[in-house]
Amino acid sequence: MGVYAVTGSASGMGREVVEKLKAAGHTVVGVDVQEGDVVADLSTPSGRRRAIEGVLAASGGRLDGAVLAAGIGPTPGKDRPRLISEVNYLGVVELVEAWRDALAAAGDAKVVVFGSNSTTTTPLVPRRTINALLHGDADKAARSLRMFGKAAPSLAYAGSKIAVSRWVRRTAVRREWAGAGIRLNVLAPGAIMTPLLEKQLATPTEAKAIRAFPVPVGGFGDAGQLADWVLFMLSDAAAFLCGSVVFVDGGSDAYFRPDEW
Ligand code: NAI
Repeated sequence: MGVYAVTGSASGMGREVVEKLKAAGHTVVGVDVQEGDVVADLSTPSGRRRAIEGVLAASGGRLDGAVLAAGIGPTPGKDRPRLISEVNYLGVVELVEAWRDALAAAGDAKVVVFGSNSTTTTPLVPRRTINALLHGDADKAARSLRMFGKAAPSLAYAGSKIAVSRWVRRTAVRREWAGAGIRLNVLAPGAIMTPLLEKQLATPTEAKAIRAFPVPVGGFGDAGQLADWVLFMLSDAAAFLCGSVVFVDGGSDAYFRPDEW
């Protein structure tokens, strides 16, 4: 049985993952700002340090895997683009980098990062926003979106998920990661019924856009099913999966980009 770190463990898909891992007999170190084995606010440098150190202490410096599910959605708010950048990008990358040695110690660790199909379905995400994030500069990423007014949170959200997916793909193939037995992959969901989506649906303009968005299979995804995908991507079956972005989105990505492959 393994030891797994799961961020965003208090709600939605992260919580489902924790329940399924525990039911399978694994040990889980949950990280969340609400409640968890490690209570930490990933929107601040000190919170990210607390998460890093808390997990390393609780796991004894050896991790069989990690699931980075903590994230915030594109609800309106002036400071939202900076918060999104901090939690959805730095709250993933800084943690996974700091856990590398613990992951390498397991010999065949698997990491699943939550991306999103907003990466391929949101038009006009500025390149400078993505580049600022890839340089670790959340303030610059937020500043790059100032002129976009009400669209800024959505662009920040898609930008954070594009940047984190690129970081995974660039990092996954490096010798220190792939060569150390660590498998880094992204799960990219579409609209899944969780508290995050419920908050968006409670905002009338966002609700209208979400309901009008093409989903070929119809409806919203189920958090438990997405957690099953995560468990599969943490299993031995994923030994040959490296730097992949797996879309589980009811067909929206295929609808918008049928000829991209
Ligand atoms: P959720 O809102 O149910 O759960 C997210 C968890 O992250 C919560 O427990 C929350 O407390 C935690 N969190 C938020 N800010 C934090 C912070 N500053 N520090 C520590 N923890 C923090 O959301 P859901 O839907 O389960 O989302 C999981 C992941 O999936 C997120 O990364 C999200 O962006 C992504 N995603 C969700 C989609 C959806 O439709 N629900 C679609 C595509 C991607």
